[in-house]
Amino acid sequence: MSTSKLSRSKVSIDTNRVISPISPLVFSGFAEHMGRMIYDGIYDPASPHADESGLRKDVLAALRELNFRSIRYPGGNFLSGYRWEDGVGPRDQRPARRDLAWQSLETNQFGTNEFMDFCKQVNAQPMLGVNMGTGTIQDASNLVEYCNGTPGTKYADMRIAHGYRDPHNVKLWCLGNEMDGPWQIGHLEADEYGRKAREAAKMMRWQDDSIELILCGSSSSLMPTYPEWDRVALELAWEQVNYHSLHYYASNEKNDTPSFLALSTEFEAFLDTLAGTLRYVKAKRRSKHDVYLSWDEWNVWYKARGRSDMEGKWTPSPHLIEEVYNLEDALVVAQWMNVFLRKSDVLKIACLAQAVNVIAPILTTRDAMLKQSIYYPFMLFSKLAAGTALDISVNAPMYHTAQFGDMPLIDVSASYDEANHAGAIFIVNRSLTESMTIDLNWLDCVPQSFKAAYQVAGTDPKAANSYENPNQIVSVPVAVPQVSDKSATLTVPPLSFTALDAVM
Ligand code: AHR
Repeated sequence: MSTSKLSRSKVSIDTNRVISPISPLVFSGFAEHMGRMIYDGIYDPASPHADESGLRKDVLAALRELNFRSIRYPGGNFLSGYRWEDGVGPRDQRPARRDLAWQSLETNQFGTNEFMDFCKQVNAQPMLGVNMGTGTIQDASNLVEYCNGTPGTKYADMRIAHGYRDPHNVKLWCLGNEMDGPWQIGHLEADEYGRKAREAAKMMRWQDDSIELILCGSSSSLMPTYPEWDRVALELAWEQVNYHSLHYYASNEKNDTPSFLALSTEFEAFLDTLAGTLRYVKAKRRSKHDVYLSWDEWNVWYKARGRSDMEGKWTPSPHLIEEVYNLEDALVVAQWMNVFLRKSDVLKIACLAQAVNVIAPILTTRDAMLKQSIYYPFMLFSKLAAGTALDISVNAPMYHTAQFGDMPLIDVSASYDEANHAGAIFIVNRSLTESMTIDLNWLDCVPQSFKAAYQVAGTDPKAANSYENPNQIVSVPVAVPQVSDKSATLTVPPLSFTALDAVM
C-alpha cells in the first residue's frame, strides 16, 4: 500500500450542519429460512440453551445487544417459493416441503407467528415479505389480513384460532425479493414486476392503510439491468410504495485489501444513483409523494460462495454460506455504516444480512455461540449513532487503490443527539501500516467531555474469531481524548475502527 508521508488528519464538526435525522431502522437485520439461520440458529428446541418455546436464550441475548430495530423475514430467495399458510397453525399439521431456492427441506416448524414472538423477544419490529414469485396478489392480501385483521373475517379468525387474538400490526412489508434476478423463482421483467407489485400493494393497503411498502430494486449495482430496472419498476408503482430496496454484498475476492477498504465510495455511488433515480421518477410523475431507500440486504460475502455453500441437498438446516468474518470485513462493515449516516437524507432502512449462521455476526453450534468480528462495529453504531447525522469536513492524507484511485486514509461519520446531550464520532483508519493522528475541531457546540471510546483493531487484516479463540477481534475500551479549547486530538492505530461517545 503506498501512502502519503503525512499521517495527520483534521476533522471539523459543526452541529448546525445537519444532513438529516438518522432513521433508527438503518440498524435492522434479516432472517431468512436458509441454512442454519432459523433452525439451529434462533430456533433449536434440542439445544441446552433453548427456552420453553425453542428459542436460543444465548442468541436472543446477543441479538438484544445488537438492537436490530426491525427484522426482515422470511427471505431472501426463499420467499419467492414460500406458501405462508404452510407455516401457521398446529405444528404437527404443517407440511414439510422442498425449498427450491436453496435445495433444502423446509419443515415449517417455524413460521409467521413464531417470528412475531421472536421479534418481541428482541424488541424488533417485524418486516414481512410477500411472495411475488409463485405467490399471487391475493396471497399477499390474505397475509396482511391474517397478520393485521380484526376478528370477523376468514384470515383474521384463522390467526385467532392459531392462538393470537391481538393483531400483529405489521407495518413494514416487502413486495417480493430480488425480482430482477434470473435466479429468482418466478423472476419478472421490470415492467411485469412493477405492475404486479403495484396491484399487490393496492390490495394490501385496502386491507390496512397504515402499512408501509418496500419495492424491490436492483439486487446489486453490478446487475446488467441496473439502474433501468429501478426506474421502470418505480415509474409503475411510485404512488403505492414508501421505500425502494437495494442489495449489495461486498467482496475481496482479488485479495486487494487497499481497494476493499475503500469500498465506501462504491456504496455511496450506488445510493447516489438510486437517489437520482428517485428524483427523476418523482419529477416525471409530477408527484408530491416521496419514496426513500431501503438497503435491505448488505454485508460482506465472498468466501462461502462455492456450489456446496449454496445447495442444501434436500436436508433440513444444512450448513449454507457460513462466512467467517475477519478484521478487514469488520472495517468494511464500519464504513458501510458511516455511509448510512452520511446518506441519512435518502436511506431510511438497512438490514444486515443476515442475523445468525448465514453470513452473520453470530455463529452457533448446539452448545455454543460465537460473536464474529462484524458484530462489534454494528453493535457500536446501533448503540451510539442517534439524533441527526452531521455533514463534517474531513481533511486526510490519501493512499492509492487499484480500484478507486486515490482515497483518504480515514473514513469518518458523526451524529448529534441534541435532546439527549449526546454525540458520536466513528472513524475507520484504512492504513495497513500507519497510525493516524486526528485533530477534532468543533465549530459551534463543543462536547463537555468524552464518556467512552471503543476500538476494534488488529495487525492482521485476516484475523478472525473462532470458538477456540473468540476474542481476537472484539471491541475494547480505549483512552478518551481530552477536549480543550474547542478541540481534541487522538491517535488511532492502523487497521482500526474507533467509536467516540461524547457528552454534549
Ligand atoms: O442473503 C442470501 C441471499 O442473497 C438472499 O436469499 C438473496 O436475496 C440474496 O441474493
